[in-house]
Amino acid sequence: MEAFAIRGGQPLSGETQVYGAKNAVLPVLAATVMVEDTCVIEGVPDLEDVRVMLAILEALGARVERSGETVQVDARYLHSTQVPPELMRRMRSSVFLMGPLLARFGEVSVSKPGGCVIGQRPIDFHLRGMRALGAAVEEKHGYIRCTANRLYGTHLTLDFPSVGATENLIMAAVLADGVTVIENAAREPEITDLADFLNRCGARVEGAGEDQVRVTGVHHLHGAVHRVIPDRIVAGTMMIAAAATRGRLVLRGACPEHLGALVNKLREMGVRVEISRDIINLESPGCLRAVDVRTAPYPGFPTDLQAPMMALLTTAQGTSVVRERVFEARFKHVNELARMGADITVDWQTAVVRGVPRLTGAVVEATDLRGGAALVIAGLMAEGNTRVEGLHHIDRGYQQIDVYLRDLGADIVRL
Ligand code: EPZ
Repeated sequence: MEAFAIRGGQPLSGETQVYGAKNAVLPVLAATVMVEDTCVIEGVPDLEDVRVMLAILEALGARVERSGETVQVDARYLHSTQVPPELMRRMRSSVFLMGPLLARFGEVSVSKPGGCVIGQRPIDFHLRGMRALGAAVEEKHGYIRCTANRLYGTHLTLDFPSVGATENLIMAAVLADGVTVIENAAREPEITDLADFLNRCGARVEGAGEDQVRVTGVHHLHGAVHRVIPDRIVAGTMMIAAAATRGRLVLRGACPEHLGALVNKLREMGVRVEISRDIINLESPGCLRAVDVRTAPYPGFPTDLQAPMMALLTTAQGTSVVRERVFEARFKHVNELARMGADITVDWQTAVVRGVPRLTGAVVEATDLRGGAALVIAGLMAEGNTRVEGLHHIDRGYQQIDVYLRDLGADIVRL
């Protein structure tokens, strides 16, 4: 079993480049199955979740070629509308195949998706939306089958601005008859990126990034070249790691406007953050102030940065209150941080973090992707040696995080 061995206490220092966003590229790759032509996707990160998505596309019959960070998908001759269950289980984002396959072929079969265990993560909004578009949805023995002779534009209101449901329903609506309006849509930058890709292929998606999205159905999509947006969560994780080690960082290729909530919190803590176009300069003083954090859909503080932020808050001066408002079980990192000397108490979806002078190294285990990143950050901050186990979670969303951190002066090796 792989693990990171980290010797803490080295402030990070130097420059790093942000790569393409996992959560943007996964729906974009899924959307390529609607296109009877070649799509070229640039800025594709080399991550386990991306590899699984490419394997699914190939299993469905698409021709996939990868050269560095560019992936070409030709989905002209798909021969299956059934997502292989063993691949489906490996990644929640496999659920994104539902909308596109249903839209193109009028049928799709998937098993219940896997992914990070950070809450129940139902897909009822996705299914309700598919039904409203005219699909028959059958759920049996952990399998879901959707069928429709045609999908018809409709008016949908989501109970919560779900990122995945917004994306899946936009994709389903792209080839439907007539106009679909999605109210209370999620506004994350990854949704705007998906809409940009679809529109490049000839779709008519308006209002992405706002809470009402309008999709006018078209008859077919053509190939396009698309570069995915930079990964705001990776960028944020690196910024938090630099702040936590009281270091300095120059981050290139980021999209600072996607990071507003984090930048505000870091500044409130006393971290100096300067922004010029796609470059973020960050310098952390020795002593940081505690702050309260409440996660929320975009443009609120991202739930995906809650765990890394909590690692940073463990040694801030004072008491911070962290409220998780998106997922109901996203505090699994707390026990592991406590092993390292953090003083955190949890009451349901609220964690109270009392700053301690320092963390101490320990053996800890990642149980989800961002919680794992938080443990790496804690290891970098801690006095002595930390061993982080459960690396497969971290590798799902961070491309060689150890290499990137080592380039910034961290003492971290993969065992
Ligand atoms: C996306 O997950 C991201 N994944 C997550 O990133 C991210 O944490 C999340 O959005 C929130 O920003 C991808 O983009 C691939 P949601 P998603 O649907 O779409 C409830 C990471 O670490 N809900 O917006 O699954 C749900 O339970 C990952 O990179 C329903 O109740 O999130 C949750 O409480 C993890 N029914 C809330 O909505 C539904 O049908 C938000 O979930 C759908 C969602």
